[in-house]
Amino acid sequence: MKLVFISKSDKKAAWGDSLQAQLPDLEFLIWPDEISDADKASIDYALVWRPPTGVLKTFPNLKAILSLGAGVDGVLVDPELPTHIPVCRLVDRCLTQGMTEYVLYHVIRQHRRFGDYEKMTAAGEWDVFTQEDARRRGVGILGLGELGRDAAEKLVALDYDVASWSRSPKDVAGVTSFHGADGLDGFLARTQILICLLPLTDETQGIINAEHLAKLPKGAYVINCARGAHVVDDDLLAALDSGHIAGATLDVFNEEPLPKDHAYWTHPKVIMTPHAASLTVPHSAAEYVAENIRLIEAGETPMNIVDLTTGY
Ligand code: NAP
Ligand code: GLV
Repeated sequence: MKLVFISKSDKKAAWGDSLQAQLPDLEFLIWPDEISDADKASIDYALVWRPPTGVLKTFPNLKAILSLGAGVDGVLVDPELPTHIPVCRLVDRCLTQGMTEYVLYHVIRQHRRFGDYEKMTAAGEWDVFTQEDARRRGVGILGLGELGRDAAEKLVALDYDVASWSRSPKDVAGVTSFHGADGLDGFLARTQILICLLPLTDETQGIINAEHLAKLPKGAYVINCARGAHVVDDDLLAALDSGHIAGATLDVFNEEPLPKDHAYWTHPKVIMTPHAASLTVPHSAAEYVAENIRLIEAGETPMNIVDLTTGY
């Protein structure tokens, strides 16, 4: 069994070791260095993160395309993507845990005004803010899938007033579910801290725009840990500058790395991380990838096949 690894990841060796520990018969080959044209027909699986356009179709006998990330926008963007085999997204314990940590940290930071305390400390000031009740803090999660759901459940455990917005209705204890285009306005109206955990698709691109930001209550906070293209940057900057939006935590950007001259770098109301909200951890993600390969080899359906019509 042969797998080609197509990614700029600096964890190639860790991936090779972790996968071979799970599947001793697997040959792990790194594209392009370890692949000749003659090898291509013998490759069974492609494990990929943002593969260059047109590369996947050069492997004629792939059984599946396995994503190194939860989001597959960087795979589906390929106009020549082979569509007769499954594309499987990554669902992984460490990826979920990392995202939940990121969300909880930034929600609590905003709710308890720890950023303001940091600024006061730096300015040598001593003051105490009113402590707000988490039960009165409306936290809204766009997307209640693998990641959104775990974050929602843990926010509920901390007593926040949590709502979600998804395509289909949800039934998660303690989470008020909104869905579909008709549900968006009601969801936004009660959301003081907005978290984006949607996949990037034609329908969700640019969803954090002037119209939707205006529907959030004044002083709302925005956390985007999904994809940069969910945000219309000029609209968010205008809402921050007008004071309607109090601040934003941004992990992902329309262009990555973020260009050096982008206004976000120096904006006093923006805090940023470099697309690191949650990273794929080879030792745990390899268990999931190996299980998907075992399922396919056994003639069964792999987990988390992407619906190419919806894009997630
Ligand atoms: P997922 O399990 O596929 O969940 C996606 C959720 O979004 C579902 O609840 C889905 O609704 C909802 N949704 C999709 N299209 C929608 C639409 N048009 N309107 C309303 N709701 C819609 O995805 P996931 O594993 O949670 O991952 C979410 C995203 O996080 C990924 O796609 C990726 O871009 C991002 N991510 C970022 C990082 C980072 O480090 N920044 C790390 C990992 C992932 P239904 O449930 O009704 O289908
Ligand atoms: C990271 O951005 C992922 O989609 O897993």
